[in-house]
Amino acid sequence: MSSDDALSVRPSNSSDDDAIARLGGHAFALDPARICAAYELGGPRNGRVICDGPDVIGTSLLLPMGQYFGQRRVSMAGIALVAVEPHYQRQGVASTLLRSMLREQAEEGMGLSTLFVTTKALYRKLGYADAGTRFRAIVDPRHLSADERSGTLLPMDAAGETRVRALYGAHAPAYAGFLDRSEYVWTRILRPWSGRTPTCVLARHDNGQVEGYVSYSKSPTPSGSHEIVVHDMFASSPWGYRRLWSFLGSSCTRLVDGVVLYTAPHDPAYMLLPEQRADVRLADTWMIRLLDLDAAFGQRGYPPRLEATLDIDVYDDVIDENNGQWRLSVSGGRGAIRRGGAGDLRTDIRGLSALYSGFAGPGALAASGLIEGTPAALAIAGTVFGAAQPWMREMF
Ligand SMILES: CC(C)(COP(=O)(O)OP(=O)(O)OC[C@H]1O[C@@H](n2cnc3c(N)ncnc32)[C@H](O)[C@@H]1OP(=O)(O)O)[C@@H](O)C(=O)NCCC(=O)NCCS
Repeated sequence: MSSDDALSVRPSNSSDDDAIARLGGHAFALDPARICAAYELGGPRNGRVICDGPDVIGTSLLLPMGQYFGQRRVSMAGIALVAVEPHYQRQGVASTLLRSMLREQAEEGMGLSTLFVTTKALYRKLGYADAGTRFRAIVDPRHLSADERSGTLLPMDAAGETRVRALYGAHAPAYAGFLDRSEYVWTRILRPWSGRTPTCVLARHDNGQVEGYVSYSKSPTPSGSHEIVVHDMFASSPWGYRRLWSFLGSSCTRLVDGVVLYTAPHDPAYMLLPEQRADVRLADTWMIRLLDLDAAFGQRGYPPRLEATLDIDVYDDVIDENNGQWRLSVSGGRGAIRRGGAGDLRTDIRGLSALYSGFAGPGALAASGLIEGTPAALAIAGTVFGAAQPWMREMF
């Protein structure tokens, strides 16, 4: 590699398409055409490349959207498809690319960055912390009943898609970690994508309200049968979930080996299974990283009746503006962070990101060496950020 000075990061343009397709195709063992399609779906201004002189040696896709914490939307820069030319790997190329993207997004006033990882060590060094889960459950069709047959099942059409988005949008804020989905995410859930064509069914209650939907496709299994893979399943009532499970149960003929649901132990879709006899494994842990502290702490929500202040001393080796002492004041469900305070809780940006997510409580974070503080500060941090158990059904 030439000297560090020769590396530059810039938005991608159409002349980079071949390099991006080749890099991404190789990195993820995917048809290069799929990489191009993902970048196109991500939007024209969101590809980033890192170059050594004129040569593109790494790439990533920025996915601006929102994510719910404390029942409110926080602006979030999703990051996907990070890939580096094989002979440039382990020389700091991905780190340089990501540091540039993180600084750029902090300057834009984004609250968070979120990603799914293959290489945790890389992202930890950049300040990302485990923040939520995605479990994979394989439900045995023999344990699904088809008993709930009231209401009407509707196919997906343009009006149905509007209802699906409205249903999700109205209820998603209640789930810590759920996305305010961009078109990139919705398309991958509802439309033909990556070689699969989802079927989407809506459940309308006898009261006339659409109370749930499921999007799924079928995938062949080695036994010569297939499994049903659920891309999204969401309902606004217990009836909605029961009706959707009943529909999936009645779709399971002898040819179906199982129903795959990405879930969490506290997902209502999982809790409302007639029998919880499923093979459940942790598929992914996703990570977040705080960017602009003002946006991150000001946009999220907090417990409604809590009045609290928390003094935090932060160290961030990527975004200079975050360094120093801060006082977080919480009142009436809203929060604001200002310079000052006594630094009762000390942490680097990774510990603060972990705490913010509510994925683990302050006790566990202190025991892992991610944060340290006075007993009072740790107790207050616990009441401010709670144990939110964030999770997500989709991957991006
Ligand atoms: C993962 C990938 C992007 C890393 O790019 P890179 O330029 O080699 O990363 P960096 O040199 O900046 O690595 C910085 C640190 O991250 C960690 N890291 C990077 N690659 C790693 C790997 N393969 N295994 C374990 N740790 C790794 C190390 O701690 C490394 O520091 P070190 O080299 O001093 O030990 C690259 O290997 C790649 O393109 N892989 C295929 C696609 C992929 O998995 N992308 C990630 C999607 S989340």
